[in-house]
Amino acid sequence: MKELSLSKVYRLIEPGPVVLVVTAQHGVANVMAATSLMMARPDPPLIALGLGPWNHSHAALRASGECVLAVPGVDMVETAVDIGNCSGADMDKFAHFGLVTSPAAKVAPPLLPGCLANVECRVLDDRMAEDYDLFILDPVRAWFAPDRDERRTFHHNGDGTFVIDGPALDLRARMVKWPEFLD
Ligand SMILES: Cc1cc2nc3c(=O)[nH]c(=O)nc-3n(C[C@H](O)[C@H](O)[C@H](O)COP(=O)(O)O)c2cc1C
Repeated sequence: MKELSLSKVYRLIEPGPVVLVVTAQHGVANVMAATSLMMARPDPPLIALGLGPWNHSHAALRASGECVLAVPGVDMVETAVDIGNCSGADMDKFAHFGLVTSPAAKVAPPLLPGCLANVECRVLDDRMAEDYDLFILDPVRAWFAPDRDERRTFHHNGDGTFVIDGPALDLRARMVKWPEFLD
């Protein structure tokens, strides 16, 4: 993967794709699927992630204060859904799903280089985790796979059906107020 500027992380998350959240606790990594996330601020980036206590990943995120958000391509959609339908409390999902990992630069959880992009995050604020399952994440390093053929992300409709990225509209000429987002 090649390094991606943190000022571009917002482009990965703004469209709201299904992501994989990689955590680690006591040296054991785990991964789950998540869609409850948004860019809270584009640049410097802040991400809000809703991750409930019913997930094994929740305790790891709270205890370690770190995670990797990996953005899978649509070629991984079945695997991503299956990852969100089993628990790391019962199994090693990396072994079960044959997920390749590589070390992250700044956090303990590993990257998933088979994905389109990976964002290393530290928990900046978990004060709303108790009441709202909400974590504010501070991206500290980001990576993308420049040579990957399948570049489409996928989005959960909230009912077990998914939409795949379609054709893009180029409206850059109208973005007169936001030249910094166009390069
Ligand atoms: C498409 C999809 C999206 C999901 N989004 C979220 C989410 O945004 N937040 C959340 O807490 N759980 C979400 N889940 C549920 C977790 O991925 C699921 O509970 C998973 O089994 C947790 O794994 P763990 O116990 O190993 O942490 C989602 C599941 C699927 C299939």
